[in-house]
Amino acid sequence: MDLLLVEKVLLSLFLAVVAAIAISKLRGKRFKLPPGPIPVPVFGNWLQVGDDLNHRNLTDLAKKFGDIFLLRMGQRNLVVVSSPELAKEVLQTQGVEFGSRTRNVVFDIFTGQGQDMVFTLYGEHWRKMRRIMTVPFFTNKVVQQQRAAWEEEVSLVVEEVKNTPEASTTGIVLRKRLELMMYNNMYRIMFNRRFESLDDPLFVKLRALNGERSRLAQSFEYNYGDFIPILRPFLRGYLKICEDVKNRRLQLFKDYFIDERVKKLGSTKAEGFKCAMDHILEAEKKGEISENNVLYIVENINVAAIGTTLWSTEWGLAELVNHPRVQKKLQHELDTVLGPGVQVTEPDLQKLPYLQAVVKEVLRLRMAIPLLVPHMNLNHAKLGGYDIPAESKVLVNAWWCANNPAHWKNPEEFRPERFLEEESKVEANGNDFRYLPFGVGRRSCPGIILALPVLAITLGRLAQNFELCPPPGQSKIDTTEKGGQFSLFILNHSTVVLKPRSF
Ligand code: HEM
Repeated sequence: MDLLLVEKVLLSLFLAVVAAIAISKLRGKRFKLPPGPIPVPVFGNWLQVGDDLNHRNLTDLAKKFGDIFLLRMGQRNLVVVSSPELAKEVLQTQGVEFGSRTRNVVFDIFTGQGQDMVFTLYGEHWRKMRRIMTVPFFTNKVVQQQRAAWEEEVSLVVEEVKNTPEASTTGIVLRKRLELMMYNNMYRIMFNRRFESLDDPLFVKLRALNGERSRLAQSFEYNYGDFIPILRPFLRGYLKICEDVKNRRLQLFKDYFIDERVKKLGSTKAEGFKCAMDHILEAEKKGEISENNVLYIVENINVAAIGTTLWSTEWGLAELVNHPRVQKKLQHELDTVLGPGVQVTEPDLQKLPYLQAVVKEVLRLRMAIPLLVPHMNLNHAKLGGYDIPAESKVLVNAWWCANNPAHWKNPEEFRPERFLEEESKVEANGNDFRYLPFGVGRRSCPGIILALPVLAITLGRLAQNFELCPPPGQSKIDTTEKGGQFSLFILNHSTVVLKPRSF
C-alpha cells in the first residue's frame, strides 16, 4: 500500500473520530435511541459484537438488551427486533416506513444498485417489478402448470437413487442431486429448460457462478469496508472479484437463456406454452422495464428461489433421518391416505395434514432466512417508543420469534404434531407473528406459493419411497448450522442411506 493512502486513511480516521463524538453528543440529547452496548468512536460496537451477527448471537443480545436494540456497526445503524409485536409493527403496521431494503457495497454490485426487485427501495420501481413478476411466477395458475414438472423431477431423483446400489448400503450425499432437481424446477418455470445431469457443462458453470455469488454476498469478510467507509480502499480487490463474478453471471444468463427466448418469441413457430421469461420479455417490449431489469429478475430468482428451497429440503431430509418416529408416522399417513406406493402429487397435499405439519416444523426450527431479508426505513421513524435514525438496517429475528420458549412449547424439539395440536391455527403465510418463515406484509416472500408445494412433494416422495437412515455406525447425521449475512443452511452435506421401501 502506498504511503499516500496510509496518510489519507489516518487523516480520515481522525476526522471521523471527531465527527462521531460530535454527532453522538448531539444525538444523545435529541433522540431516544433503542438500548444497546455503548459504542466507541469510529468502530461503534463492531469490535464488541464481532462480525458474525447470526440469529443465535442476536438472540443472546436480545436477552441482554431487550426486544429492540441498536448496534452501531461503524457508521451503520443496525436495529434488531425480536418479538412478535415489534415484528408486526415493522412488517405490517409501519410496513411502508420500514419497507425499503438496505444494501451494502457488495449487494450494490450484484443488484446493479437496486435495478432488481428483492433489494430495491420501497417505491415505484419495486411496485412495478413485483407486479410484472407476479403473473409469470407467483400465482396458482403457475403451480397448476408446473406441478407435473416438479413431480417428474422428483420421480427422476427417486429412480436414480433406486438404481444406485450404494444408496441403500453405505449411503450417498443426496443433496447434490436435489440441487440439480431444484435448478430444474425453477429453470423449467423460467425458461422451459432443464439440465440432464450433474455433469451438464452449462449446469456446472451456472452452479459455480451462483455459488460464488452467494459466498461473496453472504460472507462477513467485507463488513469492515462496509461499516467504515474510509477503510473501503482495502476492499478494492474483493469488490473487483464481485464485479467480475456479476458480469460473467449476467452474461451467462443472457447468452445461454434469455437470448434463446428472445429468438423463440420472434420466430413464427411459437411453442404454445409461455414460460415466465416470455411474460417478462413482453413487459420489456412494452417499455415497462429495461433489458437490465430483465437480467436482474433472472439474478433474483436464481438467488431467492433455488437456494432457499434447497436448504429447506436438506434440513427436512436431515430431520426425517434423525427422527425415525416422525418419518414412520409420515410414511403411515402417505400409505393410508394415498394407498401403499401411490406417488404423492400436488392435489393430494390438502389430504395430508401430517406432511404439511412436517414442512411447517422444518421451516420453524430451521428457518432458511432467519432474520428475513434486511429492511430499512428511508426516513427517521419511531419504533417501540424509540427513535430510529433514517436509513437504519432493521433485522427481524423471525427465528427467535418462532423458537422462543416464552411463546412455544419445547421449541427446540422437532415435533410436527405441534401444528396439529396446540398451534393448529398457525399457517406459514404470516397469520401469526410468532411464525414468519416467509415474512409478512409488503416485502414478504411471493415465492411461498411455489415453495410450499415443492417442499411437500419432495419430502413426501422421499419418505414414501425410502427408509431414510444415517450411514452405518452413526445414530444421527450432523445438523451443525452455518449462517451468513441473512441465510441459514446446514454446514455439512451428510451422507444418507436410502433403502427402497417394499409394499
Ligand atoms: C423455502 C423457500 C423460501 C423461503 C424460506 C423464503 C423466504 C423469504 C423471506 C424470509 C423473504 C424476505 C421477507 C421480508 O424481508 O420481509 C423472501 C423474499 C423474497 N422471496 Fe422468498 N423464500 C423462499 C422461496 C422463494 C421462491 C421459490 C421464490 C421465487 C420463485 C422466492 C422469491 C422471493 C422474492 C422475489 C423475495 C423478495 C420480495 C420483496 O422484496 O418484495 N422465494 N423470501
